[in-house]
Amino acid sequence: MEKNDEYNINYEYICRYIRRTIKENHGLLRQMEEFAAEHDIPISQPETMRFIEVLVKGAKAEKVLEIGAAIGYSAISMAMCGCHVTTIERDEKMIKLLFENIKKSGLKDRIDVRQGDAAVLLPQTEGSYDLIFLDAAKGQYLDLLPHCLRLLKSRGLLVSDNILYKGMVATDELAVRRKITIIRRLRKYLKELCGRAELSTAIIPIGDGIALSYKN
Ligand SMILES: C[S@@+](CC[C@H](N)C(=O)[O-])C[C@H]1O[C@@H](n2cnc3c(N)ncnc32)[C@H](O)[C@@H]1O
Repeated sequence: MEKNDEYNINYEYICRYIRRTIKENHGLLRQMEEFAAEHDIPISQPETMRFIEVLVKGAKAEKVLEIGAAIGYSAISMAMCGCHVTTIERDEKMIKLLFENIKKSGLKDRIDVRQGDAAVLLPQTEGSYDLIFLDAAKGQYLDLLPHCLRLLKSRGLLVSDNILYKGMVATDELAVRRKITIIRRLRKYLKELCGRAELSTAIIPIGDGIALSYKN
């Protein structure tokens, strides 16, 4: 069986089957998927998004914090589930597209954008969130974790994306030299998540790999 080149943590036939089976997006979200593919913008994969939507609805999350908005695909998808989303983004080109897409979505009242580096903004952030979606620079996850845990409600969920990083985190056989630092940091991050007494963490091999952590 061939591994899927693009999303190579799973076999291609599994990816294809899942994509064919889950509900497809239409309208704005579909347009955003096409725009992201055309312009090489990394957005969450559809199966990851379906999973997060189930979490948001199942946990009855009212307040969600997202770190790493890009063009707003995941923020809009989550806000469509009925929650309020605060999302952080530092890239000015992305921020422009993010505002345009939020306007098109008609969900301006449910999405707050905080512009800047999460490493600077998170220490100044107060409040408590039912669900935190960590989808920023992978090498920063470990440094951002204490802030995420402070801001996460007890019984809240922390969702960390791209945790298997195209399979490279799981085996050195796939690791490319220029990604070694990120791979090491992601491994440390996973060890920390799995070792923390206040968390229960599951590693889920869909999309590019998700760590789902429940805070006691
Ligand atoms: C994978 S993309 C986010 C995709 C988005 N969550 C989605 O699924 O539609 C990661 C984004 O995080 C942003 N980012 C990375 N590190 C960041 C940081 N430290 N602070 C704020 N934004 C960051 C990048 O500019 C990029 O747009």
